[in-house]
Amino acid sequence: MKPDAVLGLATGESPIGTYKQLIEWYNKGDLDFSEIHTVNLDEYKGLSPENPQSYAYYMSTNLLNHVNIPKENTNIPNGLEDDSEVECARYDNILHSLGGIDLQLLGIGGNGHIGFNEPGNNFNKETHCVTLTENTIQANARFFDSIDDVPKYAYTMGIKNIMQAKGILLIASGAAKAQALYDSFYGPITPSVPGSILQLHNNVTVIADEAALSIILKEHEITPGGHIK
Ligand code: GLP
Repeated sequence: MKPDAVLGLATGESPIGTYKQLIEWYNKGDLDFSEIHTVNLDEYKGLSPENPQSYAYYMSTNLLNHVNIPKENTNIPNGLEDDSEVECARYDNILHSLGGIDLQLLGIGGNGHIGFNEPGNNFNKETHCVTLTENTIQANARFFDSIDDVPKYAYTMGIKNIMQAKGILLIASGAAKAQALYDSFYGPITPSVPGSILQLHNNVTVIADEAALSIILKEHEITPGGHIK
């Protein structure tokens, strides 16, 4: 609906169906990405865009190579920049110069992380380098040959960048997300559950399957398809 939108994009399994749908609409001629700009949430530190486990590679193969978005309009933190201060300042400059994100797509970690903002991380941060938690390293090990290959650090947009997006669309599926989803939207707002900050955003849409919603549905005695307050 907004041909020159700035889209904040996410990786992981959750948005794969969304990207497939966008490609399908593009192939049908219903979507044009020629004026779109994209900014990705995060990237592993130390991985090159050619590394199949990098988020740059994921974005190329799952979306960017299949639609008419100009390469120069796409942005992902540079995993190969060793100097965190340089890379984070560069990325924040891009975010600021684009004038903010129109729609930020989010998945959620089993521990409630959004982007790579891990529990305990300060809410007031912009792009920064994080040390990944053991929980996240284990969860993401499924994409690597061995757990030792999972990078220990990542660059991520901060909660502050995410909260400045005009709209947020969070996608969650599977029982492994049920607690994180419940804690994020029905628990206290606390850095121990990074997703809980979304309670303070005025335009969040959550798309989740029954398994991911199971605790919420049970607590509130709601049948699937029913309205959740
Ligand atoms: C990763 C990413 C997050 C993503 C989350 C969930 O660690 N950094 O941006 O939302 O895990 O991933 P998945 O959708 O594969 O469950």
